[in-house]
Amino acid sequence: MITTLCKGAAITVVTLYAVRKLVSYRWGVFTRHVDCSRLIVVITGATSGIGKATAEQLHLRGATVVLACRDVLKAKLLAEELRQRNEDTRVMSFTLDLSDFDSVDAFCRQCKKHLPRIDVLILNAGVAFCPYAETKQGLELQMGVNYFGHARLTLGLLNLLGKSSAPRVVQLSSSLYKLSKVPDRIQAITGEAHIHDVCQTEANYDSKAAYYDSKLAGMLFTKEIGRRFPSLICASVSPGIVATNLGRHRWSLYKWISLPALAVFSLLAVRTPFQGCQTVLFAALDDRVTKPYGYYRDCREEEVSKLQMNLLLCEKLFLATQEIFNHCDNAEQ
Ligand SMILES: NC(=O)c1ccc[n+]([C@@H]2O[C@H](COP(=O)([O-])OP(=O)(O)OC[C@H]3O[C@@H](n4cnc5c(N)ncnc54)[C@H](OP(=O)(O)O)[C@@H]3O)[C@@H](O)[C@H]2O)c1
Repeated sequence: MITTLCKGAAITVVTLYAVRKLVSYRWGVFTRHVDCSRLIVVITGATSGIGKATAEQLHLRGATVVLACRDVLKAKLLAEELRQRNEDTRVMSFTLDLSDFDSVDAFCRQCKKHLPRIDVLILNAGVAFCPYAETKQGLELQMGVNYFGHARLTLGLLNLLGKSSAPRVVQLSSSLYKLSKVPDRIQAITGEAHIHDVCQTEANYDSKAAYYDSKLAGMLFTKEIGRRFPSLICASVSPGIVATNLGRHRWSLYKWISLPALAVFSLLAVRTPFQGCQTVLFAALDDRVTKPYGYYRDCREEEVSKLQMNLLLCEKLFLATQEIFNHCDNAEQ
């Protein structure tokens, strides 16, 4: 009886292991050797999850890594941890709170003071499905951090990116972008854009929609940047479902995947941060990534919805974003 049970358990374990191996093989691993010793890479939200795994991998490959994080202590600890693993490589940490344009601007000034150029900018930080809250400048938090904060950062660092011989911008998106209705909101803008033309108000707030919108807006903006600045290679990446802290506000979606009853789902669909960062590394380093803009998943390019990503929409959002920045700046003066 005991022998039969042991045999059954062993077969189950081996089968599950084989299935997991098979599934993760499909996700891809970025194994190419790329000389990163001359690369300066800025990563937002590097203290946790996919950003942390990306920073670790780039640092191990010899890149100079700049950790752009809101929690100074966490960033310093991570910098120390990375230095201990690879003493030959530089790691720096500067404070960046994407929910405050003043912090974003101060971060850009720090970069200009301390960095000769930026070769890769990874727009990774993010919040998801949180209760209604606003950034310092009064934008709904998910759009404010995931989209507007990163858009301001990218514009503020364009000069430094322009000093690189092959600059790249990699934006962390999600396949959930397909559910976004932000194109309708952007299409509807007539005249000068205001915050609530793009962001939800507290009264109409839907936390899922705000996340989807922020991810698609990031893609539209990144595509427009790639079009406007021809030397830039821009990419959006869908990392898959990754076990990180992202779901802290939405336990029903993320925490339940750790329940034993749903272990099979986790086994088939949920990636580790290391697995989740592979397509980010691909977009940041692979020499087959050459288009002004591309969308990548599982270490290969994927088609995006032409309806949601048309050029007019990209341009309209870009202009609306600049107008909203102007409103915020004028309101602060
Ligand atoms: N996990 C997934 O399944 C999944 C799927 C698709 C896309 N993504 C995208 O992948 C990216 C990384 O997410 P993750 O899963 O690794 O989540 P995570 O573990 O929660 O990491 C998010 C990072 O963003 C930082 N952050 C949050 N608010 C910030 C702010 N105001 N200013 C600066 N940094 C801020 C966090 O800093 P603290 O450590 O200080 O909180 C943290 O370092 C996000 O853009 C997310 O939308 C994730």
